[in-house]
Amino acid sequence: MGTVLVVFHSQGGNTKAAAEAVAQGARDVAGTEVVLKEGLAATTEDLLSCGALAVGTPDYFSYMAGGLKDFFDRTFYPTQGSITDKPCGIFVTHGGGGKALESVQSICGSFKFKIVGEPVLVKGAPDDEAKERLAGLGRSLAEAAS
Ligand SMILES: Cc1cc2nc3c(=O)[nH]c(=O)nc-3n(C[C@H](O)[C@H](O)[C@H](O)COP(=O)(O)O)c2cc1C
Repeated sequence: MGTVLVVFHSQGGNTKAAAEAVAQGARDVAGTEVVLKEGLAATTEDLLSCGALAVGTPDYFSYMAGGLKDFFDRTFYPTQGSITDKPCGIFVTHGGGGKALESVQSICGSFKFKIVGEPVLVKGAPDDEAKERLAGLGRSLAEAAS
């Protein structure tokens, strides 16, 4: 059985809805456990113990939100050497830009995560089509985690 960690930040609810769609997609793969956490609450142990993770953020000022950055900042040194090639998916909600994706990709490169699938970009709140793309990412991560 694999565990998928979904870490996100959301002030207005759009990215939370996106995170829930990723989590639902992962749960649809039998035997998958999902841990869904805000970036400020997610721990080093969550990162060490998951089989795969998804990281999600709104685009705030063309950068990732502070809540997700806090997760990366706290967990970087304690996990180095332990999580190389851990499968990771990325999702970003935005208001028409989406440049924050680059900041997430850069940090995922520093962690040496193995990126799974294409990053999912969503403008505003996820509609049914976006939720299906997000769920697809969750399913891919669940398969990579098992
Ligand atoms: C402080 C702030 C800064 C933002 N800056 C950008 C931006 O630079 N580019 C963009 O496309 N959207 C920007 N937005 C829009 C948000 O990325 C978008 O509404 C997002 O879906 C919000 O996610 P949330 O509801 O999870 O907080 C900004 C929103 C806020 C509140």
